[in-house]
Amino acid sequence: MLLQDHHLREKITHFDHERIPERVVHARGAGAHGTFTGYGTATKLSRAGFLKKNKQTPVFVRFSTVLGSRGSADTVRDTRGFATKFYTDEGTFDLVGNNIPVFFIQDAIKFPDVIHAGKPHPDREIPQAQSAHDTFWDFVSLHTEAQHHTIWNMSDRGIPRSYRTMEGFGVHTFRLVDDAGETVLVKFHWKPKLGVHSLVWEEAQLAAGVDPDFHRRDLYDAIEAGAYPEWELGVQVFPDTPEETFAGIDLLDPTKFVPEELAPVQPIGSMVLDRTPTNYHAEVEQVAFHLGHLVPGIDVTNDPLLQGRLFSYLDTQLTRLGGPNFHQIPINRPHAPVNDMLRDGMHQHAVHGGVAPYHPNSLDGGNPAEAGDADHAFADVPVTVTEAPKIRQSPASFDDHYSQVRLFWLSMTPVEQEHIISAYTFELAKCYQQAIKERQLLSLANVDPVLCRRVATGLGLPAPSPMIELPEVTPSPVLSQLGQTWPGD
Ligand code: HEM
Repeated sequence: MLLQDHHLREKITHFDHERIPERVVHARGAGAHGTFTGYGTATKLSRAGFLKKNKQTPVFVRFSTVLGSRGSADTVRDTRGFATKFYTDEGTFDLVGNNIPVFFIQDAIKFPDVIHAGKPHPDREIPQAQSAHDTFWDFVSLHTEAQHHTIWNMSDRGIPRSYRTMEGFGVHTFRLVDDAGETVLVKFHWKPKLGVHSLVWEEAQLAAGVDPDFHRRDLYDAIEAGAYPEWELGVQVFPDTPEETFAGIDLLDPTKFVPEELAPVQPIGSMVLDRTPTNYHAEVEQVAFHLGHLVPGIDVTNDPLLQGRLFSYLDTQLTRLGGPNFHQIPINRPHAPVNDMLRDGMHQHAVHGGVAPYHPNSLDGGNPAEAGDADHAFADVPVTVTEAPKIRQSPASFDDHYSQVRLFWLSMTPVEQEHIISAYTFELAKCYQQAIKERQLLSLANVDPVLCRRVATGLGLPAPSPMIELPEVTPSPVLSQLGQTWPGD
């Protein structure tokens, strides 16, 4: 072999660089193309064109687990990602949600911490599904705002039957803006046509061994067979008041949901996934979702977790996808015309014409009398800031870490409660440190005495007494997965 064998060198050099970094979270995923059709019911709330009646918009959806690496099994107990890219006529709108309506933390600065606690222990690098669980339970028993998300993970929601049978939630509260500039606050919900279904734990474990690609295969095979999965998109609508609360619930607290009995989910469109990816790397691996991909008519709120996410996605993608031009990768390209004045940089694919990449300009056929960039770009809804020194102090409700956990627990059927007890018992038994199990039992005592006693018995430990007065809550039948069907059926 000689150095002059340049074909060999080029081929091997390219091969040497075939891998890109996997996502720091949600590394394991599967995706599909489809179409969103607006019902027109949201046009009185939002000026977004893709919500108009019968308007069809191409979409790409990526489903994922959170903690596992790219090659991990699909059916582990975990939260699932449900991220949708709408290629609208007004630019790209990304709805980057999960299959659980609440999140672990209230403040973005804790995100690296909760993920470090859930990823494999640094010494042995064995995923916690198979090994020590001490760091996860240490975190959630110390940062008790995480107890709500955790009980959803311990329920059947943590082991979905299929991506096709998952609900999706935007989690945060968003702001919709209509033609007249009037605003409402909303929470987004995806409801699966097939209903919500889960595996039982034994099935999940068997599937993880026998077919680690269980969910990826299910999605691909269903679409190839013409059994196109379908979801209805809906919103819970709340008045946009200065307090940003509804029925006493802080709408900026991502560890809380609003029960559907208090604010029904109003359908605004439906989505069908009918095309599998042509190339996994090009599409599923390179797709880049970002909460800042908004269209006129949909805006963010001051939820402190949401604000942190606005920074994180673009930042991580600069590394993961190698520089500032990843929006030019085919799966990320808007389908609407773009005139963003962004220029040059690594991996520039566009051959930009003209000499005046600024706005307004009097060259390149521009009109110097036109408004500047700020007036052309996406316009934020102005929010008045009155309180000093913080923009908005967290209300006392941010400190209530248990009432909705209790609401969730009491809403379950007896079968679902048995599954939750078994899951807590099994997972906590994997902790080496007894002090951590005892601390988590203290949290369970604040949720419900039966739940706490049953898990304590399973662990061979005494059941502690609650540290708080257990709140009065009204169970919500909607939260139980049993018997859920397609809206309108
Ligand atoms: C992916 C950060 C909270 C849903 C990611 C990624 C990062 C990240 C860095 C990888 C993105 C990429 O490489 O392209 C954060 C931070 C959070 C947060 C800092 C809190 C401060 C959430 C919440 C949700 C969520 C609350 C759900 C509502 C997702 C989904 C993905 C993802 C679905 C996968 C997107 C895909 O399929 O490519 N997140 N995240 N994240 N996150 Fe978050």
